[in-house]
Amino acid sequence: MLNLICKTSLIKSVLLLLIIVGTTPLTGCSEKEEPVIPVTPPVVETKTLKEKAKFPIGAAVTVAHLKEADFANAFKSNYNQLSAEYEMKMKGIWTSLTGYSFDNTDYLVNFALQNNMKVHGHALLWYSSFPDWFKTVAYDSLNFENNVKTYIQTVVSRYKGKIVSWDVANEIFADDGTLRVESTVYKTFKDPIAFYGRCFQYARNADPDVKLFYNDYDQVLNSAKRNSVSKMVERFKKAGYPIDGIGDQFHTTIWTSKTTISNGLTDIARTGLLIHISELDIRVNQNKSDSYVFTDAEMIRQSDMYKSIVESFESLPQAQKFAITTWGITDKYTWLTGWWHPKEYPLLFNSNYTKKKAYDGFLSGLK
Ligand code: XIL
Repeated sequence: MLNLICKTSLIKSVLLLLIIVGTTPLTGCSEKEEPVIPVTPPVVETKTLKEKAKFPIGAAVTVAHLKEADFANAFKSNYNQLSAEYEMKMKGIWTSLTGYSFDNTDYLVNFALQNNMKVHGHALLWYSSFPDWFKTVAYDSLNFENNVKTYIQTVVSRYKGKIVSWDVANEIFADDGTLRVESTVYKTFKDPIAFYGRCFQYARNADPDVKLFYNDYDQVLNSAKRNSVSKMVERFKKAGYPIDGIGDQFHTTIWTSKTTISNGLTDIARTGLLIHISELDIRVNQNKSDSYVFTDAEMIRQSDMYKSIVESFESLPQAQKFAITTWGITDKYTWLTGWWHPKEYPLLFNSNYTKKKAYDGFLSGLK
């Protein structure tokens, strides 16, 4: 009897020890030994984001960031797609009617290609990035369009075959779903949507293989804006203007409703277009408090929210999953410390380039 108990117990102990310490040899067996139930150890992910994901994982960067070795290393090890945080916008490139500055954009594109990354172009047209010299002239609609057409052709054809996708237009709708009136396009054209449609066409003519996106914030959360975008997509399709995808920026928070996110994403995907979570970051300092402390509990909530967003994205049809891009990689450099509050911690790495719980949440949300 003692022999039998001892044998059973020995088998269980062997199982447990194999799990815990691998092949450490066993010695002895005591009568007093309690039966041990083997516990399955938690699955430890050893892969990085880009290794695990079946779609590209992007981040917004700047030339200055990439010149910092720690930043460049964290970026290269974990991401395989690059967006420019601002250096590919009109203001960064278009210096005068015939003047273009490509030093920064060339640097970013070369960095990406040398490191086997894709490049997503952000963004050809954004109301907030028309250069001052351009706005000052106040072109009529004909000259406005001719000049913008040349700009699009020049930039898109320069990076033909190197930049896989462009945000052709960014943020043309206001929060109530109407066209944004502060845009210089709105002020110049009777039918701004038709103008944007032609701009998509100019981009397609310059690079027939490039994927063309409409990009905006809060489409998943705001059905008024989502409806306007869907209507524009329908109109483009009917008129024959090319559009391949929709980017939702996803500057969001740890308090946002996960159900609303998931439903909104599913709804946008009904367009049948590629879907890009294009500028993901998750704010924590809700009240913009100067005494805010990023506690363990908030870190876990943030990690949970990353996981949930990635899971919602994963539940879309495989062919529509274009990419997920975070707007930066480290809490050391985030636009939110300026735009939101200096005490903000929205990204996947902390200021010392250590992976946060947020990183693990993102990773575990991937299929
Ligand atoms: C922001 C950048 O992060 C800032 O550095 C820049 O000064 C202004 O633009 N939506 C967008 C992005 O589409 O281009 C914005 O990026 C953030 C909001």
